[in-house]
Amino acid sequence: MSNQYGHFDDESREYVITRPDTPLPWLNYLGSDEMFGLCTNTAGGYTFWKDAKLRRLTRYRYNNVPMDLGGRYLYVNDGGVVWNPMWKPLKTALDRYECRHGLGYTKITGEKNGVEVEVLYFIVPGENVEIWRTRVTNKSGSKKDIQLFSYQEFCFFEALNDMTNYQRTYSIGEVEIEGSAIYHKTEFRERRSHYTLFACTRAIDGFDTSRDAFCGSVHHGLHEAQVPAKGKATNSKAFGWNPIGSHQVSLSLEPGASETMSFVLSYVDHGDLPKFKAPFVLNKQKGKEILAKYSAPGVVDGAFAQLKADWAGILSNFQADCPDEHARRMLNTWNQYQCMATFNLSRSASMYETGIGRGMGFRDSNQDLLGFVHLVPERARQRILDIAATQLSDGTCYHQYQPLTKKGNADIGGDFYDDHLWLILSTCAYIKETGDKGILKEPVGYADKPGSKEDLLHHLETSIAYTMKKRGPHGLPLIGHADWNDCLNLNCFSTEPNESFQTAGDVKDSKAESVMIAGLFLYASREMAGLYDWMGQKSDAARMREQYAEMLAVVEKEAWDGEWYRRAYDAESRPVGSKENEEGKIFIESQGWCVLGGAGADNGRAKQAMESVHKHLYTKNGIVLQQPAYSTYHLELGEVTSYPPGVKENAGIFCHNNTWIHLGWCLLGEGERALEYYLSICPSAKESQIETYRAEPYVYAQMIAGKDAPVFGEAKNAWLTGTAAWTFVSVSQGILGVQPQYDGLKLDPCVPKAWKSFSISRRFRGATYEISVKNSGVCKGVKKLTVDGKTVAGNVIPLSPAGSTVRVEIEMG
Ligand code: BGC
Ligand code: NOJ
Repeated sequence: MSNQYGHFDDESREYVITRPDTPLPWLNYLGSDEMFGLCTNTAGGYTFWKDAKLRRLTRYRYNNVPMDLGGRYLYVNDGGVVWNPMWKPLKTALDRYECRHGLGYTKITGEKNGVEVEVLYFIVPGENVEIWRTRVTNKSGSKKDIQLFSYQEFCFFEALNDMTNYQRTYSIGEVEIEGSAIYHKTEFRERRSHYTLFACTRAIDGFDTSRDAFCGSVHHGLHEAQVPAKGKATNSKAFGWNPIGSHQVSLSLEPGASETMSFVLSYVDHGDLPKFKAPFVLNKQKGKEILAKYSAPGVVDGAFAQLKADWAGILSNFQADCPDEHARRMLNTWNQYQCMATFNLSRSASMYETGIGRGMGFRDSNQDLLGFVHLVPERARQRILDIAATQLSDGTCYHQYQPLTKKGNADIGGDFYDDHLWLILSTCAYIKETGDKGILKEPVGYADKPGSKEDLLHHLETSIAYTMKKRGPHGLPLIGHADWNDCLNLNCFSTEPNESFQTAGDVKDSKAESVMIAGLFLYASREMAGLYDWMGQKSDAARMREQYAEMLAVVEKEAWDGEWYRRAYDAESRPVGSKENEEGKIFIESQGWCVLGGAGADNGRAKQAMESVHKHLYTKNGIVLQQPAYSTYHLELGEVTSYPPGVKENAGIFCHNNTWIHLGWCLLGEGERALEYYLSICPSAKESQIETYRAEPYVYAQMIAGKDAPVFGEAKNAWLTGTAAWTFVSVSQGILGVQPQYDGLKLDPCVPKAWKSFSISRRFRGATYEISVKNSGVCKGVKKLTVDGKTVAGNVIPLSPAGSTVRVEIEMG
């Protein structure tokens, strides 16, 4: 499958873009430890260390014209013909362009008039070093004298200040140049002990560090930059204004010859070394060591080989061969890769998130863990403890925290009454994956009680108790500022255009209730009961089941609307998401969570709720969030009614919540529906309609415009979305049915009847399970399980010792 812009290369796990003018910038990420970069198919983007707001190394202007401008550029001047291998900023027509987005790297090749420039961007695993490995080849029949220029803009570290406070920033820029290294050292004299290094592994023939000098004047743009046009650097030294890094390299290449060098961008933590060698002269020791290291032959290639090996290792924890090519490639490569990105970045930095707004979200990060925990469980462990530490002792949670400080963000505060419950889901998923119940005893304080040392289990109990306590007139959980749906603001009543829907409104004596939280509570309390069962704590398990039963009774009594579950009760206790409403009669989230929480299982309502979703909400591009879309603003409902019909939470296809319905179909044994619904939001399956879809075909998007929008089917906000983790769960655990349990690996596939066979290789607690499934025409049901040739009753593979490889066969029927 391909489209006019590119195609998947499944073998090399790359998406290959063959023309640069994609419908939207198609993004990739570099880095997966501490240093990260955003890199589009025309090399747009920026780099930061740990925190996109507080430690931004290079500059990017969001929502630029053209949209994606500013990045890791190379300019070529070949006998007066000037071009960029990445097409932008000059947009000179290229003879060939190719961008390969791979796992943690992007390789862009441009060719013109017989000169080929290939640049490979990646961040060295475990180090704060970004490499631009650049190979220039003369493919023509005659000798070429080429001037090559690198270009990127430095950011003054604190990104918000950098893009708003010019009365200061225009006066503080400082750089030093020594050999082929440019040191960006703004604010180093005062309170910073870090700087940015941008260097070339080869001797250079000139440099620029002033943006105005590189471009020509303040009236010139990057698309008409004078230094590359004239083929001569000016050796400018920035003093204030806008420091950049640009190296000039003169190359003389015989026909067939090529030369390779790297540009090295590094965040250098200076540590306790003396800061200066002489007044105003930076102690460059660390920077020099880094440059020396990466200038040595083989080091760059070795680092890249390491990156590839790391990813091969990580992905080998889960690989599947199933009949559907879209499910297969997403699951085996791109979905897991996207899960790494959401784990690392939460919702902070993408083409839609500017890195200055949100840090790590409480509910977001807990959900992101569900798709990440099998990749690097040790990192998931630490994350759970970090998140839990932002919970307050009464049960409420800071809605967000900054990754650099790990402190709750006071601006947004708490009182989103779903947040705490997601901690139970992430913790249970982690323990099922690892068996490490020791985490429950880890001391984790509460954010409002410095020095408190309750354990993680205490936090989970606090979460359960908080929902039981915070209930409204129907006995359903209160909603607070919002539940999962950030825009269902039942206590907001905002008439002031400048206030945030999320934080406006007083939740103190509010009566507004959420059916979705009730469903989520059912799920979470059942998880807790299962955990206690496994730990042999019978009375605790029974206590959880009592609370479950109490909430279930409330849901069935108060939330059923006749054909589906209602969504909420507003502050006046009027139903939301009911046939009684004019608009917003049926919502997706409460159907998903009530069904997943076990409501309607015995009385046919689960099936009926799902059929109502099919009838009222399902479309070929996914399930819209509610219907009918709101056409007017409702004070009592908040932001959900602020969006034009068909986008975002107002009847857009919010892919994240679609996955709960996919899991619901799996629960009900409807394999055809599960796959059909999955494919409706699967980006790989959108290649054939890319002009409408527009976003990256290799990662899930947060939103696809719904049927009420004039642009039905158009995707936005790719990459940083809970859809990543949840599709991994719905496809690997729901459709393929590989479900980690506390004491084994359960197999409970739910597939289309026509799937005759499929296989999964799953590393679980150190053992590798090679699972092959035969199906004689059913959607669900395991009639025979064989483990290393022996029949096992039921459908749970018992645990095998770490290091062993286990052959598992199942027959569905
Ligand atoms: C968006 C939500 C988002 C929220 C974050 C809203 O405008 O529609 O999707 O979660 O902002 O603050
Ligand atoms: C995106 C937010 O990050 C997430 O927390 C929220 O649940 C969804 N939007 C839905 O509103």
